[in-house]
Amino acid sequence: MKKLFAAFVIAALPALALGAASNYPLDKVEIDLRDKAALQDGARTFANYCMGCHAAQYQRYERVADDLGIPHEIMLENLVFTGVNIGDHMKIGMTPADAKKWFGAAPPDLTLVARVRGNDWLYTYLRTFYDDPARPMGANNKVFPNVGMPNVLVSLQGKQYLGCKQVQVVEDGKKQFDPLTGTPITHEACDQLVVEPNSGKLTAEEFDEKIKNLVTFLAYSANPVKLESQRIGTYVLLYLAFFFVFAYLLKREYWKDVH
Ligand code: HEC
Repeated sequence: MKKLFAAFVIAALPALALGAASNYPLDKVEIDLRDKAALQDGARTFANYCMGCHAAQYQRYERVADDLGIPHEIMLENLVFTGVNIGDHMKIGMTPADAKKWFGAAPPDLTLVARVRGNDWLYTYLRTFYDDPARPMGANNKVFPNVGMPNVLVSLQGKQYLGCKQVQVVEDGKKQFDPLTGTPITHEACDQLVVEPNSGKLTAEEFDEKIKNLVTFLAYSANPVKLESQRIGTYVLLYLAFFFVFAYLLKREYWKDVH
């Protein structure tokens, strides 16, 4: 019985750890860990918009700079604000106790968050903050209801709120199109995320791209070895290809007299 109980608790742990769950459908994101430009843009967004509250303390600035092809001086000038050394871990000044007082919850370290939550969850979470005057920080979130985090990307995305808009009709999981004209069939739906036009610096597409890059960076940060193993893998293949030629020549040499 005890064992059964323990098994139950362990099985329930992930659900508990992830806190308030929502069944908001997640948007899919395809990321490419080899895309250096995306990784650099993501690192910049992370330093500018996230590191005020979140650390990535299992990661060093130097490692990120080297992996992403950012020269050390540029990394120090543009991405490091706290007067730290290039070899330091990516920590922040805010203490968890203060953070809890201000936001009701401490902002967790984000080094490994992509492994815990998954890329699609992050991509959707970061794009679904909306105005909610009932919340202490004035913002709520579709995938993390009643989150303690304020809407920190509002200047880029613009003011997003729940309103009514035309959405495409979906039946049996398929988007519906008019069979004659091929145009999407829509209907008005309320309680939808709507962005006030021209209230942010970026268009919807640009904002999605920014977030995709940020998620690419977080995915890299959660598994920096992946980049490395891809690089090493390439060298291993080149090495094998190179020595295959010599092995072949040697074999020919040995067998020459046998035939
Ligand atoms: C003003 C402080 C602040 C800033 C800036 C901030 N966050 Fe947060 N964030 C929080 C707080 C507080 C929480 C905890 C929310 C809770 O548990 O209710 C949080 C939670 C999160 C979570 C959920 C973690 C989890 O698994 O529970 C993610 C992911 C996240 N933040 C990502 C980001 C990213 C990416 C940025 C930069 C674009 C960012 N945050 C900027 C305060 C902040």
